[in-house]
Amino acid sequence: MISPKDFLRKNLKMVHGYPMICVFADNWEKVEQFHSRRDDIVIATYPKSGTTWISEIVDMILNDGDTEKCKRDFITAKVPMLEMALPGLRISGAEQLEKNPSPRLVKTHLPIDLLPKSFWKNNCKMIYLARNAKDVAVSYYHFDLMNNLEPFPGTWEEYLERFMTGNVAYGSWFDHVKSWWKKKEEHPILFLYYEDMKENPKQEIKKITRFLEKNLNDEILDKIVHHTSFGMMKDNPLVNYTHLPKTVMDHSKSSFMRKGITGDWKNYFTVAQNEKFDAIYNKEMSGSELQFRTEIKEPTQQI
Ligand code: A3P
Repeated sequence: MISPKDFLRKNLKMVHGYPMICVFADNWEKVEQFHSRRDDIVIATYPKSGTTWISEIVDMILNDGDTEKCKRDFITAKVPMLEMALPGLRISGAEQLEKNPSPRLVKTHLPIDLLPKSFWKNNCKMIYLARNAKDVAVSYYHFDLMNNLEPFPGTWEEYLERFMTGNVAYGSWFDHVKSWWKKKEEHPILFLYYEDMKENPKQEIKKITRFLEKNLNDEILDKIVHHTSFGMMKDNPLVNYTHLPKTVMDHSKSSFMRKGITGDWKNYFTVAQNEKFDAIYNKEMSGSELQFRTEIKEPTQQI
């Protein structure tokens, strides 16, 4: 019998050169051999980039803004995470996906190299949501405080060092965003930014709607913006991750739906940390046309 002690707060394990959550790494054969379906829609992100937000948005779009239909199950069942495995507690992400009807929504944080080949062969549509590295680092630190599947993050200072060198689950943020950005030259990938979604959610939702070849009227789009606003999602037990056992996610340490803003990094980075981060950032991102914003104006859509 596997006990929680065997997979909680364990060190990361390398999978094909990428640091991975230990218990996920132990299930890797299932991930590699996963069979996609042609109409699968992949939602790919680096962790803490707004995956849950965009997952609920895409589910709302596919269901024509019908909130009742979107209440049919927890987000983890509607949009299973491909690489998720939790022995003894629940079925794996891959097993849940096998049960789900088409068109399936597939959540993943995998870097390009680790995504099962079947998705590329089947030319599946993919939506990649990227968020600026500084806010991701802050969000990831708080997540690792409450998510017992991750190694304990230590102090913010220690954690930031590891984040900058890519010594966190799924590896380097820099490599992740750059390789997904490049991949869109040869594959149908809609590349979106968290900051754009914060600033003008309706406009970004329209982009997703077009990409998925749906046609939704203004009233439905406004309904989706409202239903997926941070305030609504924070209080929605189907999407705020309070349904997971406390042994896995302990919301008393930090909420999954924490702040949902752009620019929170300013409350955590010291001047010295910011200078060091910027120097590494400029080196890693030199030559890339990717442009991230670390602050935005107030959102234009408040519904
Ligand atoms: P913070 O920790 O900065 O608050 P993921 O779903 O990829 O794990 O990302 C989680 C981050 O997205 C958290 O960021 C969370 O608060 C934020 N988030 C979740 N739902 C959101 C929403 N509807 N609007 C804005 N941000 C949201």
